[in-house]
Amino acid sequence: MSMVRLTIDGSEVEVPEGTTILQAAEKAGIRIPTLCYHKRLPPIESCNMCIVEIEGEEEPVNSCAAPVSEGLVVTTNSKALHEQRTANLKKILKHHPLDCPVCDKAGECELQDIVYEFGIEDVPYEPRKVKRDDSYSTTLIRYWADRCILCGRCVAACSDLKQIGALEIQGEDEHARIVVDPDKCKSCGECLMVCPTGALTENLSKYKGRPWLVKRVWTTCSYCGCGCQFQLNVLDNRVIGITTDVDTGVNRGSVCDKGRFGYEYIGDESRLKKPLIKENGAFREASWEEALDTVAEKFKAIRDEHGPDAIAGLTSAKCTNEENFLFQKFIRAVIGTNNVDHCARL
Ligand code: SF4
Ligand code: SF4
Ligand code: SF4
Ligand code: FES
Repeated sequence: MSMVRLTIDGSEVEVPEGTTILQAAEKAGIRIPTLCYHKRLPPIESCNMCIVEIEGEEEPVNSCAAPVSEGLVVTTNSKALHEQRTANLKKILKHHPLDCPVCDKAGECELQDIVYEFGIEDVPYEPRKVKRDDSYSTTLIRYWADRCILCGRCVAACSDLKQIGALEIQGEDEHARIVVDPDKCKSCGECLMVCPTGALTENLSKYKGRPWLVKRVWTTCSYCGCGCQFQLNVLDNRVIGITTDVDTGVNRGSVCDKGRFGYEYIGDESRLKKPLIKENGAFREASWEEALDTVAEKFKAIRDEHGPDAIAGLTSAKCTNEENFLFQKFIRAVIGTNNVDHCARL
């Protein structure tokens, strides 16, 4: 891999050919403001917040898309750049309502953070004439057209990360909006993950807790053996949503519809809290000690009377590898049979 040397804000940086200026700056510890850029998506270039000056060039370029080249001299933080970024941000905000007090994204909103960073106080706000009951094709996600800055991340995520292509931007100027094809959408929530604003919100967690109030607990998704990593957002001992991180786990922030939205069962009142033993056709609650002793006795009785092959174990692809390993060990080494299988065959 050939390396390229360039200068960014007076520091010399060496990076592999094909690196963008934005990535090279990050490597040098220099932060360039961005809004439409997402590290898992190809450059979209809709916000122009990441502009930088290149010595010898008349116009600034978008650093998220511009590749490095040998000897480039880049400036990321001039007064002119700041003024142009501020103007670009104000343009993005032109139709954005000052909704933060009732927006589920407030506190973890990239737009809110960048508006704060640039200290924008005088937004030329013109309310956009859109209905507020906009929903997606899925009941799990809500689209707030007036909060949408048309960055295009959701469209790119649906087509590039999920290979589904259910979204597109339709219309011009203030009528432009994201439109979802209900026949294609799989309710996976990948668009939610990448949206930098509160334009896409999750209906299950709506108004349940502010991001700064929840306790975040890392966990491994229990729905299948992929081992996706995410945080459970816990408030008052109840799970009210999940948060993913592009830098963590094999899933790099992506999860399927079950992982993203299937958490309400955790606090469901009808869940079993104690083992049940069936006697005379009816269940009664039992302690774990009694339940496990009963199961062990029954297994032993069957094995003694009919041999170990009279018993079979069926485990689940929804268990972890470690649990499945232990299960087959139990069936083979303790019961003494190779009759062990798993539900993925179904
Ligand atoms: S999307 Fe962000 S900036 Fe806009 S109202 Fe919601 S929190 Fe505020
Ligand atoms: S929920 Fe998934 S499939 Fe549906 S639009 Fe969003 S990314 Fe595409
Ligand atoms: S819904 Fe979100 S990700 Fe999609 S274009 Fe609007 S602001 Fe960007
Ligand atoms: S972050 Fe580069 S154009 Fe938006």
